[in-house]
Amino acid sequence: MGAPSTARVDNPYAGANGYINPEYAANVTATANSKGGTLGAAMAKVASVPTAVWLDRIATINGTSAARGLAAHLDAALAQQTSSGKQVVATIVIYDLPNRDCSALASAGELLIANDGLNKYKSQYIDPIVSIMSQSKYAPLRISTIIEPDSLPNLITNLSFTKCAEANSTGAYVDGVAYAASKLHAIPNVYTYVDVSHSGWLGWDSNLTPFVNLMATLAGRTTGGFTAYDGFVSNTSNYTPTTEPLMTATQNIGSNPVRSANYYQWNQFIDELSYVQSLRSALITKGFPSTIGMLIDTSRNGWGGSARPANASTSTDLNTFVDATRIDRRNHRGNWCNQTGAGLGARPQANPATGLDAYVWIKPPGESDGSSSAIANDQGKGFDRMCDPTYTGNSLNGNNLTRALPNAPLAGQWFAAQFEQLVQNAYPAL
Ligand code: BGC
Repeated sequence: MGAPSTARVDNPYAGANGYINPEYAANVTATANSKGGTLGAAMAKVASVPTAVWLDRIATINGTSAARGLAAHLDAALAQQTSSGKQVVATIVIYDLPNRDCSALASAGELLIANDGLNKYKSQYIDPIVSIMSQSKYAPLRISTIIEPDSLPNLITNLSFTKCAEANSTGAYVDGVAYAASKLHAIPNVYTYVDVSHSGWLGWDSNLTPFVNLMATLAGRTTGGFTAYDGFVSNTSNYTPTTEPLMTATQNIGSNPVRSANYYQWNQFIDELSYVQSLRSALITKGFPSTIGMLIDTSRNGWGGSARPANASTSTDLNTFVDATRIDRRNHRGNWCNQTGAGLGARPQANPATGLDAYVWIKPPGESDGSSSAIANDQGKGFDRMCDPTYTGNSLNGNNLTRALPNAPLAGQWFAAQFEQLVQNAYPAL
């Protein structure tokens, strides 16, 4: 790892140690200590893995009773840099657009477009973040920003939801993301990565082409244009594997390609690596600089443990083959909440493959995706039945059971039972 420097670099993750969030590490350590034994020892290792910090409402900028604020995190990152003598990169999630999470409920936000939310987002959320990140004392840090998970992908596929339609017709999502990127990229040591959901969402040409066009529109509204974007990030808080190691999308079973199986529904991509590499090429063709790099959130996409297939199936029936060969053990690729059987994925790593800046842990593993029943709260969180294990689904998950873990707390809260499962099914093992 390199010595700290203030120079802007192509890939902020290269030669840098990730920031260890002490509050996340404390949750991990407490659960590890309460388990003890071999499992506790495996759990304890996660305390030294870097994870992202989520600024999921205005109050989190200055800090709440539950978590320190942005400046305190950056101070801690600086302290880690000083004590190690190595460059540190802190990953910060920008997540408070008005009408946030417009097609779901579990992470519905605090701002509404109809209630002047876009102006509040700019002046009460982005501007204060920018004023902290631009303080000269933080110049020796690298700060990587993950901009608005799920937001722009919702404009491609989910306009039948009222809140998404409003985000589209008012231009609030595009304006908000463009404003965030313009201001953040202008800070020399801050890097911008825009969320591109995951292969199971946008991986058909009919979604991907409009999405790439939307990214060009976004760049057109951003100060600095295409060059204000350092890259893009996939699989945030999702469970899609980085690779399906035992088959390819185009391999034929019988005379049918794997991608035509019921599970993949003709999606071009059965895994994240192929998706982000292809998307990166399309974005560069559209005008983004060839320096853009992709990130994949690998925090919970390992799918190890006893249910992981060791070999490809020998079946000549396509669906039988795919269902027995895929490491992704979900019922449906639309299932996103607290998935049963999931495991920790690849540990964070820079330059893991062509076109990628890094594998990162953006969703801190062990933090809930949403509550499995309604829980009153003042965080703007709703109850989404995709987090209820008894729910038999809707059109977004092919009317399948959700396979969400039971007894889950609100999105973002520590969920020890989920953490235990993720550790047991880690791949690579801890
Ligand atoms: C939640 C946030 C939380 C984040 C990380 C999101 O799903 O909405 O509140 O900070 O996950 O756990």
